[in-house]
Amino acid sequence: MNERPIGIFDSGIGGLTVAQAIRRRLPSESMIYFGDTAHLPYGDKSEAAVQAYSIKITDVLLNKGCKVIVIACNSASSAAYELLKAYAGKRAKIINVIDPMVEVVSGRYRKNKIGLIGTKRTVSSGVYLKKIKDLNNNIDLKSLATPLLVPMIEEGFFNQKISHDIIENYLTQKDLQSIKALILGCTHYPLIKEEISAFYKEDVEVLDSSEVTANYVYEYLVSHNWLSSANEPTDEFLVSDYTDSFEASTKLFFEHQVHLEHYPLWE
Ligand code: DGL
Repeated sequence: MNERPIGIFDSGIGGLTVAQAIRRRLPSESMIYFGDTAHLPYGDKSEAAVQAYSIKITDVLLNKGCKVIVIACNSASSAAYELLKAYAGKRAKIINVIDPMVEVVSGRYRKNKIGLIGTKRTVSSGVYLKKIKDLNNNIDLKSLATPLLVPMIEEGFFNQKISHDIIENYLTQKDLQSIKALILGCTHYPLIKEEISAFYKEDVEVLDSSEVTANYVYEYLVSHNWLSSANEPTDEFLVSDYTDSFEASTKLFFEHQVHLEHYPLWE
């Protein structure tokens, strides 16, 4: 048994898709969510900047006693995973959102062409390509940076004409034609998963990492005998800058009133 909380972070609301999946899979675990809204979007920042934010947030979550820290952001997972692992050492287990997806894709699709959409940071890192090739060299992965999607989602523009048009524009790009599956390589994108699936009329499997990552956390806790037995787990939500849209989205995900604490990373 281990009653310490699970820490989860992202630049904004995207990681809530992962937090929600973890809450469903692990209902007895307490969670601390950090949304780095002051520095959003991560996807357009340099690797060094994303690493600096990620270390600061990890420090906050370590000081709050988290046993596991989930990097619920592909941009930070691609820029800072190895660094955070070394930094946390034995103090907490660091889990990223890329490895669980890479395992699924490499095992499920033998010799297929697979698409990936993500932020500029994630796509330019080439990390999905490298990790997939390490496990399955026969997959033909084509990646496209789709930088308009995060601000669009953060501003609440989804399920409407403007989002349909932007999505269509990206998904009709040459590289993404004739794919068997599309990886949503950004944790914001599950919020537009239905629109993306509708675009493909169910012909292409649309994969998001929230459930596979939640399952990965579950397996880790079980195998280390680290599950919590709390009857009333607590949720804490910290944001580096207060935004109305973050509060509204948090309510949407957790279906109850949530208290957001303003927690600046630098004074
Ligand atoms: N949700 C994040 C990701 O998975 C970050 C998006 C951003 O801040 O640009 O990449």
